[in-house]
Amino acid sequence: MEVVIRPADELAVLAADVIEAQLRKAPNSVLGLATGSSPLRVYQELIRRHQESGLSFARARGFTLDEYVGLPADHPQRYRNVIAEEFVDHLDWPAEQVQGPDGSAADLTAACAAYEQEIKAAGGVDIQLLGIGTDGHIAFNEPGSSLASRTRIKSLTRQTRRDNARFFDGEISRVPVHCLTQGLGTISEARHLILLAFGEEKAEAVHQLVEGPVSARWPATVMQFHPHVTVLVDDAAASRLELADYYRQTYACKPEWQGL
Ligand code: GLP
Repeated sequence: MEVVIRPADELAVLAADVIEAQLRKAPNSVLGLATGSSPLRVYQELIRRHQESGLSFARARGFTLDEYVGLPADHPQRYRNVIAEEFVDHLDWPAEQVQGPDGSAADLTAACAAYEQEIKAAGGVDIQLLGIGTDGHIAFNEPGSSLASRTRIKSLTRQTRRDNARFFDGEISRVPVHCLTQGLGTISEARHLILLAFGEEKAEAVHQLVEGPVSARWPATVMQFHPHVTVLVDDAAASRLELADYYRQTYACKPEWQGL
């Protein structure tokens, strides 16, 4: 696991560099997309590169991590709509090549199984972007999630619903109670995991993710088992890391030729 502690703008460029290199090497790559505020700067940087230097997504596939259950198709917080509005619609990426779990399916269990199959049929995810919840969730794998879990229905914690109420006019009662989410086992199969976290409110979750014992109590700790993880954090999100000096020094001394 590599931990990079730098200002947010710089981290967005680093993450965009990895994605650009992947797309230039293999234009039909499979990208794992996260919603939430953490990856927004990366999306903006990639949009800029598409517009200014022709970076193309035309042959790529995309899979989002999760979706609320029961939001109407035109709801602005439906993650399908969020990712379209913030990212995909600004690129040459055909909408049908970007998929998400179907939170309005009549049979949600079947929709989860179908989503797993779609990811598999696409050859798996090359690069998975991730944020982290203040309770240590990745995607919507709340505390107590099996470390081997697959795409399934979950109930959101009160803490997550409170955190996400800002997207629902500040009304926690408007935040859905249920969601569909890729499981921790599903996410772990992506070939490169890039997690972004900013701000003091993420500091404890980041500390647990990097330095805590692996436990379903802090679901992101499953990433400690993964062979290729990059954790991109600003000073505030890194403020509870016990070995922050070591991570800073390691990155400062990193040879130029060694990418993320
Ligand atoms: C949300 C999403 C996650 C996201 C996380 C953090 O609930 N389901 O995929 O990573 O919470 O969100 P943010 O980046 O806005 O802090």
